[in-house]
Amino acid sequence: MGFSEKALGSNRILFLILVCFVLIEISTGLGFGGNDPLKMILEDSESQFAFSSRSQGVYSSGAMEADEWQMVEKKGNQFMVNGQPFYVNGFNTYWLMVFAADQSTRGKVTEVFQQASSVGLTVCRTWAFNDGQWRALQKSPSVYDEEIFQALDFVVSEAKKYKIRLILPLVNNWDAYGGKPQYVKWGKAAGLNLTSDDEFFSNPTLKSYYKAHVKMVLNRINTITNVTYKEDPTIFAWELMNEPRCPSDPSGDILQEWIEEMAVYVKSVDPKHLVEIGLEGFYGPSTPNRVQFNPNTYAQQVGTDFIRNHLVLGVDFASVHIYADSWISQEISDAHLPFIISWMEAHIEDAQKYLNMPVLFSEFGVSTKDPGYNSTFRDTLFKTVYRTLLNSTKKGGSGGGSLLWQLFPDGTDYMDDGYALVLSRSPSTSNIISLHSTRVAIFNSLCTWNCHWGCKKQHPLEAFLSTDDA
Ligand SMILES: *[C@@H]1O[C@H](CO)[C@@H](O)[C@H](O)[C@H]1NC(C)=O
Ligand SMILES: *[C@@H]1O[C@H](CO)[C@@H](O)[C@H](O)[C@H]1NC(C)=O
Ligand SMILES: *[C@@H]1O[C@H](CO)[C@@H](O)[C@H](O)[C@H]1NC(C)=O
Ligand SMILES: *[C@@H]1O[C@H](CO)[C@@H](O)[C@H](O)[C@H]1NC(C)=O
Repeated sequence: MGFSEKALGSNRILFLILVCFVLIEISTGLGFGGNDPLKMILEDSESQFAFSSRSQGVYSSGAMEADEWQMVEKKGNQFMVNGQPFYVNGFNTYWLMVFAADQSTRGKVTEVFQQASSVGLTVCRTWAFNDGQWRALQKSPSVYDEEIFQALDFVVSEAKKYKIRLILPLVNNWDAYGGKPQYVKWGKAAGLNLTSDDEFFSNPTLKSYYKAHVKMVLNRINTITNVTYKEDPTIFAWELMNEPRCPSDPSGDILQEWIEEMAVYVKSVDPKHLVEIGLEGFYGPSTPNRVQFNPNTYAQQVGTDFIRNHLVLGVDFASVHIYADSWISQEISDAHLPFIISWMEAHIEDAQKYLNMPVLFSEFGVSTKDPGYNSTFRDTLFKTVYRTLLNSTKKGGSGGGSLLWQLFPDGTDYMDDGYALVLSRSPSTSNIISLHSTRVAIFNSLCTWNCHWGCKKQHPLEAFLSTDDA
């Protein structure tokens, strides 16, 4: 790791001292002066203070110590675990299953979880599909490679070791790892007359292939832990599809029907886990007054409709992706930042007002290959996303968290799409992530002493947090 263990150690002591102050402040209900430690942690974004998962453990001791590993739940517009809030600082590493399939690369899975947990990341999004491609999980409809399934078992079991929860998308909209186009190829091979990849969403046979895959994965019994996937609290949520789009139907009706059918189907197989769609978050025809927040005018014609799509039975929380560089201009520009803030704030507001659910910014990042890219810009982008979320958190808003795209361990550059972040090579970004983890952990611990959201407004911290500008 690039940031030194020594620094982590001394910061841990500092952290414990700060925590004691916070505990005293909370238990005595004295309120806060200008220089109190919580304010320092929450506001000083330039601090070199690094996250230590061990100190988080100590911080949470008492109420948390004896806890079992429990399911993530949704209550109102918040994620909860065991009656406490669960704001998310997490990451994506999509290829874990494929890497786990070979002994020569399996260690990278452990490495990425280890490194993620050292900067306090608690949720990972990774593919639970690989359809018909090299190292396919599903070789053809309902035909599975047991060796690859065992690789997925390993990913789930390693995640748990590092106290990281998983969001598992079940198919891709794009052709990477098979996706929608592969399902259509299978349909054609079976003699169906299919003319567009979008028939994935409407053809009854293709829908039955997808449902069979859902059923297979959710009912899988992990060969390492013996825990059935649908019973495993390591899994945070199922995602119906990575970035669904149905551009052949700009009205959005076809995708809407597919979401309605599949969200309920997933819940019927597994009522315990949360479900989300996997959308990028574009506003569509149902909300003409919101399309102004889209990054471009094409975005409202891809058959998706943020608010309508999420008002569906079985969908527990909203997802949004943030890619100013692919949606606005590839050339890096500070003008990307105001877009990111308004894009996030609009979705947080909608999730609050219309959806009554948390929203997870489940992919954000910037490509190092973009013209004009520099690492300062990436740091600024990360800080912008994190600050916008903290603004929401402090007000009890719907911003549930974010997952950076994407975290890589050393030595996996050949998989890099330009967006990979290697912590050991990016100490300043690592520090920004650590600091945010610390802040998120504090918010997640606040309710240890006050476990009812209904009382939150009267909490002495609340007044302080909501007037504060981090
Ligand atoms: C396939 O479907 C298209 C449009 O649905 C139709 O025009 C075409 O005639 C069909 N082809 C066959 C061989 O049935
Ligand atoms: C899983 O089950 C098998 C067979 O029932 C048993 O041999 C094994 O010890 C179990 N492993 C765990 C981790 O519980
Ligand atoms: C990095 O890029 C941003 C955005 O284009 C620019 O404003 C800034 O001056 C650049 N910083 C450095 C150190 O090059
Ligand atoms: C956070 O909220 C404050 C006050 O509402 C606002 O001034 C600031 O611009 C916000 N910051 C971000 C990054 O959204």
